[in-house]
Amino acid sequence: MVTTITLNPMLDKTIYVDRLERGTIHRALKMEMVAGGKGINVSRQLKRLGINTIATGFLGGEVGSIVLRLLTEESMEHDFVRTQAATREGLTYLEPDGAWTAMFEPPLRVEQSSAHELSRKIGELASKSTWIVCGGSSPGDEADEIFYEAIVLAHRNGISSVLDSYGRAFELGLKAKPTMVKPNKREFEMTFHQSLTTESDHVRAVQFLLEQGAQYSILTNGGHMFYAGIQGHFWKVTPPPTKAVNPTGSGDALVAGILYGFHQGWKFERCLAFGAAAGAANARVWEVANTNLQEILSLESSVKIQRVSVKK
Ligand SMILES: Nc1ncnc2c1ncn2[C@@H]1O[C@H](COP(=O)(O)OP(=O)(O)OP(=O)(O)O)[C@@H](O)[C@H]1O
Ligand SMILES: [Mg+2]
Repeated sequence: MVTTITLNPMLDKTIYVDRLERGTIHRALKMEMVAGGKGINVSRQLKRLGINTIATGFLGGEVGSIVLRLLTEESMEHDFVRTQAATREGLTYLEPDGAWTAMFEPPLRVEQSSAHELSRKIGELASKSTWIVCGGSSPGDEADEIFYEAIVLAHRNGISSVLDSYGRAFELGLKAKPTMVKPNKREFEMTFHQSLTTESDHVRAVQFLLEQGAQYSILTNGGHMFYAGIQGHFWKVTPPPTKAVNPTGSGDALVAGILYGFHQGWKFERCLAFGAAAGAANARVWEVANTNLQEILSLESSVKIQRVSVKK
């Protein structure tokens, strides 16, 4: 089973409008809502690929209750810590030509006691899991150490872990030596105050993450070529050309795709191709992290993977 952790989930509402204009009232054509958040996305994509998964993290208030109901309606296994603080909502206004404008409420600030409760829960889930996925941002200082603790708990239980975050939660989590790291380029640049331009900048960044103790390091960059590595081997991957409708969750779909590949016993290079295809398949549709195996396989053959040699 794969346990995913979402510290900062969101009730993700899409509001369909004819045309968005400042300073006026709009009457929406329709509204859809879905449970949002990086770990939740990974769980959704894994479930779609037939991998057992459970989502945990923080949920609070009436909005948190709606998120729980939506997860249950999706038949997703979940075990969240209920918080005093209310879960946020995110509104995306979608116009008929595909243009979208999003507004996210500020994150919930959790109490210390909830942070401790989540760490305890992760400990229990770790004993039943093969992987723990730490995905997305931390809502504030009080939750910044949870990914670190989750990765330590993964080691203690002899299981693997993924860290896909940024800022302090990412830096702290990295110290616990996750099995796989997957920030995107912007998140890496922001966290480590660097700007990556050349190929060697990117390979050095991938190498830096491996030197911190990760076995697999992936630095994605939306629809652009991206870099990945294991100790002594580096690749550059060109995703399939895609008309992006909604790339939100493509990184989460990639993580789920790679875990699916590991589950099949594939080599990392094949997992990378499948993961890149899963990310592209996600970008092609409005729905987040919910594409099927056939769609991903049909894109996989157009992923280009090349070895990168490293000059000493
Ligand atoms: N426009 C696109 N065209 C083709 N492939 C894409 C596109 N956007 C994303 N992908 C695929 O998905 C992978 C992950 O995307 P991206 O770098 O946007 O992740 P991310 O920023 O972590 O996303 P999120 O955090 O919203 O899940 C890319 O490496 C690529 O393989
Ligand atoms: Mg991401």
